[in-house]
Amino acid sequence: MARERAALSHPGARYVVQPAARVGGELTVPGDKSISHRALMLGGIAAGQTGITGFLPSEDCHATLAALRAMGVAIEQHSATQLTVHGAGARGLAAPGQVLDMGNSGTALRLFMGLLAAQPFDSTLIGDASLMRRPMERVALPLRAMGAAIETAQGTPPVQIGGGRKLTAIDYVLPVPSAQVKSAILLAGLAAEGVTCVTEPAPTRDHTERMLTGFGVQLQRQGATVGIAGGQRLTATRVEVPADISSAAFFLVAGALAAHEGLTLRNVGVNPTRTGILDILGLMGADIRMENRRESGGEPSADLIVRASQLRGIRIPGELVPLAIDEFPVLFIAAAAADGVTELTGAEELRVKETDRLAVMAEGLGRLGVRHELHADGIRIEGGRISGGTIDSHGDHRIAMAFAVASLRASGPLEILDVANVATSFPGFVPLARSAGLAISQD
Ligand code: S3P
Repeated sequence: MARERAALSHPGARYVVQPAARVGGELTVPGDKSISHRALMLGGIAAGQTGITGFLPSEDCHATLAALRAMGVAIEQHSATQLTVHGAGARGLAAPGQVLDMGNSGTALRLFMGLLAAQPFDSTLIGDASLMRRPMERVALPLRAMGAAIETAQGTPPVQIGGGRKLTAIDYVLPVPSAQVKSAILLAGLAAEGVTCVTEPAPTRDHTERMLTGFGVQLQRQGATVGIAGGQRLTATRVEVPADISSAAFFLVAGALAAHEGLTLRNVGVNPTRTGILDILGLMGADIRMENRRESGGEPSADLIVRASQLRGIRIPGELVPLAIDEFPVLFIAAAAADGVTELTGAEELRVKETDRLAVMAEGLGRLGVRHELHADGIRIEGGRISGGTIDSHGDHRIAMAFAVASLRASGPLEILDVANVATSFPGFVPLARSAGLAISQD
């Protein structure tokens, strides 16, 4: 009865995860989400054909793909992960003739704001209930300063972009570290007159910069500032998308807790602006090795081998926060399983992700009896016992997957509600997690 009620009141499906004691094997997690979005967008405005391999066939990336198709970009899909984008060229996008729905994807919506700010046509961007609550003025403000006509609904979507504006370069200092805001400004800068400069308060993922370089665009970097001269054209290239370290993160923590004979994750992207999770787990005493390092299109990747070890609580260094920004849900599970106390501060950005990740994680940890203190900009977690129980992910993909990993230390079964959005970033999570040893099922 209780199960039926839960399933009915949460149409987004649920996981039931039984406690398990060991994980292992060799896995390849799906392609990097950030790089997949960018490959489609840059391919869409380049001259020529961009071949993409390792593409992430998730709902978020399909939203970007559908929006580009609605603007006249021909995209051939050879398989779920192999695509050819027939670039429309710098001035080739066509008026979409429909509202562009970005689903759950903040990256898609914010990067398109930059890309569409200088187009000759009007456009409107919307998303699902979560995205319709997320802040967009952080992008609209600098784009307006460049001359764009952008309106938000009191800061949130729908975002309306007026066409036919001439953009002028700006020098902009980001008030918060955000790769999405930086990328939107750089994309608008491509179509602006003059050299647009963006300065970051702390390093954030630099996939846009690396990929623009791959498409033949010249960038000027000086310390925390990156500059882009307007009017440059993109030339199509090949993009090999590595596996997403943000998806690998669930198995890195699972392995640190229970890979007694080791767990190997193949060809994971290890761009240094994304490897905060490796540094944080390293400080907690995790045993993670990197092998077979290689590089493609300016993006490094490697095999990661993790072995179980007893983790210890730490104070998470502030400079690692932006470099592990999407990995905190599962890092909180690592903290709950560690000896001692883990403290995170300076992470208020977690409150404006797909959910308020500080609040939703705190609620779930509380359900499992994990002692914690929630703060405005972080959390303090006491490692120790994890009980079984029911957790509501509130439709947040990374929170759903993080609690599945908690089953490796939980004393009873876990029921995780509202998990359908796992498909936004990690198609095939359940079968892959089962193959690694988690006792997870979805209904
Ligand atoms: C992303 C940047 C980050 C991250 C998001 C993907 C990107 O967001 O959380 O999942 O691809 O640029 P912010 O720029 O809001 O920090």
